[in-house]
Amino acid sequence: MTDSVSDLDITRAAAQLKAGELVAFPTETVYGLGADASNTDAVRKVFVAKGRPADHPLIVHIADTVQLSNWAREIPHAVHTLAQKFWPGPLTLVLKRHPNVPDAVTGGQDTVAIRVPSHPVARALLRAFGGGIAAPSANRFGRVSSTTAAHVREEFGDAVACVLDGGATDVGIESTIVDCSGAAPTLLRPGMITPQQIEAVLGKPLAAPQAKTPRVSGMLDKHYAPQTPLMQMEGDLVVELAHSLVRQGKHVAVLARTKLQPLLDNLTWVAAPVDAAGYAHDLYANLRALDHAGCDAILVEQPPDEAEWLAIRDRLNRAAAGSGGTETI
Ligand code: TXA
Ligand code: MG
Repeated sequence: MTDSVSDLDITRAAAQLKAGELVAFPTETVYGLGADASNTDAVRKVFVAKGRPADHPLIVHIADTVQLSNWAREIPHAVHTLAQKFWPGPLTLVLKRHPNVPDAVTGGQDTVAIRVPSHPVARALLRAFGGGIAAPSANRFGRVSSTTAAHVREEFGDAVACVLDGGATDVGIESTIVDCSGAAPTLLRPGMITPQQIEAVLGKPLAAPQAKTPRVSGMLDKHYAPQTPLMQMEGDLVVELAHSLVRQGKHVAVLARTKLQPLLDNLTWVAAPVDAAGYAHDLYANLRALDHAGCDAILVEQPPDEAEWLAIRDRLNRAAAGSGGTETI
């Protein structure tokens, strides 16, 4: 079906899901750790494998918009509009849940998050399986998401028997989440589909999140975090601080958008793509590589304050919040 995933692999993986086992699979955003969304015991295994608190709900992936009514009890007009424009694709919609959706999936909330992914392996798996696949990003709780099958192995080792290898994911960061369960659609998590694109399709502005929005673990301040302390700053300051830390005998890792690296020992320099799509595509692999470089700090050149960089800035802010800042170097 693709170079590395055969039809037989898909058939086997679908059978494993039916048997209540976990299957890691690629989506166009990041890899997911999937379980049969209608099987509470299977869904519980996802939480155990990730080390994720049980009240953090999962996204249900479906093959086709027509299956929405199996999972949601009310489908507002905005959902049809957004689904038609952006599905299959990197958009998750939160809806009022159907009574049959297990509490394990929704964390006991009255809503459910749903997405139709576009990755050919995800689509083939969903078609072969037939039902909904509950899948969070395939990483241990609070850690950087996986964008390759090797990352999934690094996170879970043998704890996940089946990992479908569809190569590096295309988008590279998690889907945009829009809550359509309330009076007005609300952005819960930015992604590469921007608020402006969504508003253009809806023909009205998205509402600002209320204090009491549904719980989103990606909304925790500390998330997507490498273990090495990570700090963001302007490009000039990156070079300045790198010099000063190296002078103090530290090893420094840098993620910058320029290839003009200073000639210093003990400096690991990763030149990220200058465009937002390319930067997002490489972001988690870059953070992993920098985290593994055995450095005392990761310095990140702050991306531009522009709409297409919103989701990238969000992930970097959380990675920085999770890693303690300068005082931990
Ligand atoms: O791109 C993605 O969305 C990836 C791929 C695998 O589809 N999945 C992903 O899942 O990022 P996860 O679990 O890492 O993040 C999903 C987010 C969580 O922060 C969760 O709290 C939120 O979706 N979520 C799930 N159900 C929700 C609900 N009913 N209301 C509000 N947020 C919800
Ligand atoms: Mg996640």
